[in-house]
Amino acid sequence: MSATARRPLRVVVVDHTAELGGAELALVRLCAALRDRPGGPRVRVRVVLGADGPLRPLLEREGVGVDVVPLAPSLGTVRRTDALRPGADPLRRPAAAAAFTARLAWRLRALRPDVVHATSLKADLLTLLPAALARRPLVWHVHDRVAPDYLPAAAVRLVRAASRLPAAVVANSRATAATLPGPCTVAYPGLAPAQLRARRAGDEARGPATAPVVGVVGRLSPTKGQRELLRALPAVLRAHPRARLRVVGEASFGAGAYERALRDEARRLGVEHAVDWVGFVPDPAAELDAFAVCVHASPVPEPFGQVVVEAMARGVPVVATRAGGVPEILDPEGPGGGRGAGPLGRLVPPGDVDALARAVVDVLDRPAEAAARAARAADVARARFPVARTADAVSEVWWRVAARGSAPRP
Ligand code: GLC
Repeated sequence: MSATARRPLRVVVVDHTAELGGAELALVRLCAALRDRPGGPRVRVRVVLGADGPLRPLLEREGVGVDVVPLAPSLGTVRRTDALRPGADPLRRPAAAAAFTARLAWRLRALRPDVVHATSLKADLLTLLPAALARRPLVWHVHDRVAPDYLPAAAVRLVRAASRLPAAVVANSRATAATLPGPCTVAYPGLAPAQLRARRAGDEARGPATAPVVGVVGRLSPTKGQRELLRALPAVLRAHPRARLRVVGEASFGAGAYERALRDEARRLGVEHAVDWVGFVPDPAAELDAFAVCVHASPVPEPFGQVVVEAMARGVPVVATRAGGVPEILDPEGPGGGRGAGPLGRLVPPGDVDALARAVVDVLDRPAEAAARAARAADVARARFPVARTADAVSEVWWRVAARGSAPRP
């Protein structure tokens, strides 16, 4: 019997950032699920972050040990759209990357994990050499679609070529997996048991006098589609003059200019009076519960879309763009497929403001129909997206890779 068969598997997860993006929130839930696994944890996770920040206390609260191996700050904060762009991405400054590589290799050698798991594109690239130097097998977790509509072309080429190097690759959706050249294991980011248990009070409980709330939850970012939703708002207000738009989330990863542009746009469209800028909330459950409809308006194909699942699990009707991973969530059996029940939310073409407005108005016009669809969606979300399934899928990859050791792949 090998050593790894008797003791828990030791995994070091590497993330370049400690800001709270979707991948980071998914990581926190994954760590909690691995700890709470029935029969006790079979995997012990330690996390190495390229910076200190709000992710660290969240992980520590789940009992995860965290080390910070500082990345030059300029390396940690470059925007996805600037990745590898000459002059914009210091990854092109070899000295900064080399210093991090040396520090991380040293740390990995000291920690001696069975598997190294990198969980952001930047960490995926920056961990290749340190894992090799420390002779540890590396797993990539890809949360971004590696496609030219999502990343600069140079980054796409580099990541696709480099994705052949790790021992295994995990993707957060089939849509993400399809952007990579090699085999991937798909592990949908699941929800925590408390998120799946929650049931919101029905629309009736809030009373017919309540102004309908159209809500959007997520980082303020051009890729998340808050601008498209704002542009759809005038048409929504013509049909439902008392409706309000609640924008939940804050600008991070350097998107401050986008937030200012959104507020200007609201003024220009004359809808300012109907918009609540809520900012960041640590747990969006209460916000979601007040929504008559949750909108996910990404104009570019979203790699997965955790908010869609969160809204579904709470029985909130969803309107979302049909692209990337979202149709896998809302229309898993494909257009026209399945048992004839149809999609679990309203899907509209990305970037089509008129279609978005029509779908939102339709949900507000016909709440009983939307509620029936949302109740079906809640059942499906509970069955398909518990984080325990994610933990099983990811740890199965880790055990497989560890069993092969750090020997070169066949
Ligand atoms: C990233 C993706 C998002 C996904 C999340 C978790 O934030 O942009 O689509 O839901 O990772 O995988």
